[in-house]
Amino acid sequence: MSNLQIDADEIMIETLAAFDANELQADYYNELHSTVGNITKDDYIALYYNYLVPTNIKIDHELFEHEIKRYDRCFEQWGKTLSTLPRKACALVNYDGLIKENDQINRSLYEWNIDNPNRPTADSDFRKPTEILDLPSLEPLNILDPYWCRSNILRWDEGAKFLPHIDCMHNHTHSLRLWGTTTNNIRLRFHNGFNQMIEHDDVEPGRIYLIDTATIHDARCIEGRGYQFFLSVLPRAYDLLKEIIQPQENVA
Ligand SMILES: [Fe+2]
Repeated sequence: MSNLQIDADEIMIETLAAFDANELQADYYNELHSTVGNITKDDYIALYYNYLVPTNIKIDHELFEHEIKRYDRCFEQWGKTLSTLPRKACALVNYDGLIKENDQINRSLYEWNIDNPNRPTADSDFRKPTEILDLPSLEPLNILDPYWCRSNILRWDEGAKFLPHIDCMHNHTHSLRLWGTTTNNIRLRFHNGFNQMIEHDDVEPGRIYLIDTATIHDARCIEGRGYQFFLSVLPRAYDLLKEIIQPQENVA
């Protein structure tokens, strides 16, 4: 079944409970407005004009799958929830640039903020690339070098999934998310506004897309193994992203 019925209101309430649960969190996220900047709702919608917006960044995914094998042992289980699912991750951009166990970013920040309501964190807290970003196959990502924040490589096997969720809200956008995958066995769905999750079936392996994570979305690995490029950049990358996306008027 590729489509799914959900309760969007409940997901929004749960998200607010994670990121806007106390004064300390509210202050923290408001402070980000002045330190890393904030994208307005109109600007966000102008950039993320579709659930996935193709950029001109293309990774040789077969070469990447070969190169990343040398880091096989660096992948660790994603977070503490749904821990029986085959979801592993390795840091691409983290706090100190070192690949390590129990890396704070190898889990959802939603989960982190639920577990640590007095230590709020955001993508923009993590800005140091790890050596994985030096892999020759990832050279096309270099254009994002001045803007990096929290990014991962995800390695999923059949049955892995993310439940429906959002990663930013229109009044709190302190990073800009990009995404790509090495295989069409990784499937994304987005909320259509009528409490249904609709599968996005037009994904080119290796292509990097802007991904609209203000819209409720989920992901699944339906077969085999696949990697995902789970990327974010600072708000000041906005103009660059405008330059490297497929213009909206060219979309059929
Ligand atoms: Fe997400």
